[in-house]
Amino acid sequence: MKATVYNFGAGPAKLPIPVIRKIQEDFLDFKNMGSSVIEISHRSKEFDDLLCETDELFKEAVSLPDNYRVLYVHGGAQMQFSAIPINLIGRKPARKAFYYESGNFARIAAKEAQKFGNIVIAGNSSDTNYDRIPEFKPADIDHEASYVYITSNNTIFGTRWHEFPDTGDTPLVVDATSEILSRKMDYSKLGLLFAGAQKNLGPSGIAMVIIREDLLEYAPADTPKLLHYKLYDEKHSLANTNNTFAIYVINLVLKWLKDEGGVERIQEINEKKAAFLYDYLDGTDFYKGHAHPDHRSIMNVTFNLPSQELLDLFLKQATEVGLTALKGHRSVGGARASIYNAMPMEGVEALVSFMKEFEQKNG
Ligand SMILES: Cc1ncc(COP(=O)(O)O)c(C=O)c1O
Repeated sequence: MKATVYNFGAGPAKLPIPVIRKIQEDFLDFKNMGSSVIEISHRSKEFDDLLCETDELFKEAVSLPDNYRVLYVHGGAQMQFSAIPINLIGRKPARKAFYYESGNFARIAAKEAQKFGNIVIAGNSSDTNYDRIPEFKPADIDHEASYVYITSNNTIFGTRWHEFPDTGDTPLVVDATSEILSRKMDYSKLGLLFAGAQKNLGPSGIAMVIIREDLLEYAPADTPKLLHYKLYDEKHSLANTNNTFAIYVINLVLKWLKDEGGVERIQEINEKKAAFLYDYLDGTDFYKGHAHPDHRSIMNVTFNLPSQELLDLFLKQATEVGLTALKGHRSVGGARASIYNAMPMEGVEALVSFMKEFEQKNG
């Protein structure tokens, strides 16, 4: 194994080292039970305690108002692309929702939602290959809409909504998969926020859904059981055997975040990391950033090199020195550094030094 590897993968992504160590330590014997956490019942007292503690840690981390519910749901983020319209589109008789197409995942979410209602693409930045966030015009949202949907951070293109749109009485639904817990958010302004766990929370295949409790009432009676948010709420996310291991890891990640100083502190660190990388990108003509400077993400930094040959060489040499998984997504090409909460400043410094050296040799 290499001495130090900084994994810049977009997800499943790097987890904090103390969390990985704790998993290893606990694995043979969870809480003196003589069994691993993946061998105990989801109905056991020990697991129930863990679940309740995880709820509390999350609520504390984001200062969640009392009228919001915390759910742990199956199927990762994309399952919610179906579950959200199923649960919410019936809020208004028009069965209408507004989607902002700011990237691939927003486009897929809108396409899926079309199976269930009348989906209006209120803004779209595909003509500039999603290098920016579409413009939000409050006048475009009418009161017939059941909800408004945005992807707060666009993992593939490296853009984000710096400020969330004010949708008034129409609930705002946010896919925060690639930035949950990375910056302060006012949950009281949201209808629903969800995130696949595999970036800032834990392992893949599970998602957290935070929903304002009045929005639990609109799912039709024939909603499939495991897509039904109200049922998840009533059963404390245990309508069937949930992914107990993933919930355990989320619990450890939340404890780690608390030890680090919480969301406010991690936001400061995240902003410093991103600024360090963007400052360098802005000062060179060798690398070209993809995202419009006003719309840049602090989680996913996308850039390209002057040619495919140089890009291939860059990715190869980066991997050799322990800077891994920097290849960009095929729909944008180039490179992408995902610098989620678990990426330390040292990782970003190592990347920038490597980029400088590579530029000197090949520029
Ligand atoms: C913003 C965003 N939404 C949705 C998804 C899809 O997640 P999943 O693979 O858990 O369905 C991803 C995956 O990277 C993502 O980045």
